[in-house]
This record gives sequence, C-alpha cells and structure tokens, in this order.
Amino acid sequence: MRPVVVAANWKMHTTPADAAELAATIAGRTRVDGPVERVICPPFVCLAAVRDALAGTGVAVGAQNVHHELTGAYTGETSVPMLVGLASWVILGHSERRRDAGETDALVGRKLRRAVEGGLRPIVCVGEQLTEREAGRADAVVGGQIRGILEAFGDGTPADLAADLTSSGTVIAYEPVWAIGTGRNATGADASAMADTIRRAMADGGLGSRAEAIPVLYGGSVTAANIGEFLAEPAIDGALVGGASLKPDEMAGIVARAGLTAEARAGERE
Ligand code: 13P
Repeated sequence: MRPVVVAANWKMHTTPADAAELAATIAGRTRVDGPVERVICPPFVCLAAVRDALAGTGVAVGAQNVHHELTGAYTGETSVPMLVGLASWVILGHSERRRDAGETDALVGRKLRRAVEGGLRPIVCVGEQLTEREAGRADAVVGGQIRGILEAFGDGTPADLAADLTSSGTVIAYEPVWAIGTGRNATGADASAMADTIRRAMADGGLGSRAEAIPVLYGGSVTAANIGEFLAEPAIDGALVGGASLKPDEMAGIVARAGLTAEARAGERE
C-alpha cells in the first residue's frame, strides 16, 4: 500500500529567526487521524531550527537539494553526510534547479543514488514545459526524464534498482512547469494520466511490477481548494506544495483532505 504524503517546499522563503514558529504552527494545525506523512522542506540554513521545532510532532524535515558527491572542493554545496541529523527527506531535480542551476536528468540520477545510499527519502521532481504540453509531447518528455534519471541511478540489475527505490521510500513528484507558482493547476485527470506514464516508464526502466509501489505526488499551484481534485485520483498519492505551504490555513486544509483520503484508502484494503 502506498503512503499519502504532503510535502511543503518552502523554496527561498523564511529565515532561521522565523522558520521555527511557522513550522510549529503548521505542525499543530495539520494533526489528522488518517495516516498522512507530513514533510516540511525549508531552506538549508533553517533546517536545524525547523528540526528542533518539529521534534515530537510527527512532521519530518526535508532538504531542497543535495550534491552528488560526498565531499570535495564544491564551494557553497551541501552533501548527504552533512544532512545527517538535520533532514530525513530531500527534494531532487526541482524544475527551478533544472532552470537556474542547469540540473540534468543524469545529474538528478546521481543525486538520487547518493540520497538512497545515505538513507534519505528522495522526492524526485519531473514535469514538462507549457510548449511541450501544447505540442502533445508531455508524456514523452516526462517518460524521458524518468528514463534518464534511472539510467544514471542504476549500475546494478533491474532487481537491485527496484529494491533500492522501493526500500528507500522514493517518491516521484509530477510538477508541470507551467503550473508552478502560476495559479494555473493541471486537472486531476491530467495528473492521473501522467502518474500512469511515470509508473510505466519506471516499470520499463527496470522496476517491473514494483513501479506500482512508488508514490506519485502532484505539484503546481496546489491549494486547500483544489487538493481534493488530485486526491480523488487513485493514482495520485499526495502533493508537493509551494506557495500555499507557507500558509498554515492552507496547509491545514490540504492535510485534512489528505487525512480523509488516507483513511479511505486504508479502509478499502482491510
Ligand atoms: P507552487 O505550489 O507555488 O505552484 O509551487 C509548486 C512547487 O514547485 C513545489 O515544489
């Protein structure tokens, strides 16, 4: 059974002085009965403050990126060992890093390998540009991203690949670039169809039937008002939330809805 996950990507917002209070407020406002995994990913410099604020709340802490090497002459970078004790999750390959830092699928695959080896739970981001969707190429683009990431990740057998990705709790976030920060979200049906594409690409890329165990989140202008449309789709397992994740009211609404979904899905399997 796949978990339901709500992850907050705070991007380049908050400071060490105010992040703790916001994290504690969100943790308090998002306590729900259903088995929802909650994650807050603040900027690196806020990780320690947020970790302390979230201790005992059940909300996990994630980083927004990590380097593909363990140590070395990489000014300004942060490696997996540096995150020990600070974060248990990590976002990889966000479209803003692909855009601003030139991250490629091959690099994301190498980061994924480091994260899995280091015991971090990765949230791997994929998604097409507007021009690609309008040209009818969204499936090909996202399928290609998954293939490129898996090729760079895996140097073992397909069985190793599947075991590594499922036992590490790897999650994929489908974030259409045109929906990020624009207030323009995909439809639930679009997101569901893309989740199928993602799992098919993972199955073909070596995971076989174990691709069904990989959670797929939707991200892109998610709010308390539209989360229901995505969670109504059985193929979608939660959300990666940007702008709304800085607003406790929005997070309360999003996680409340996720809790209902998690309870209903758990009930269906009993
Ligand atoms: P918005 O929710 O602000 O559109 O951002 C989505 C996102 O990029 C989450 O990683």
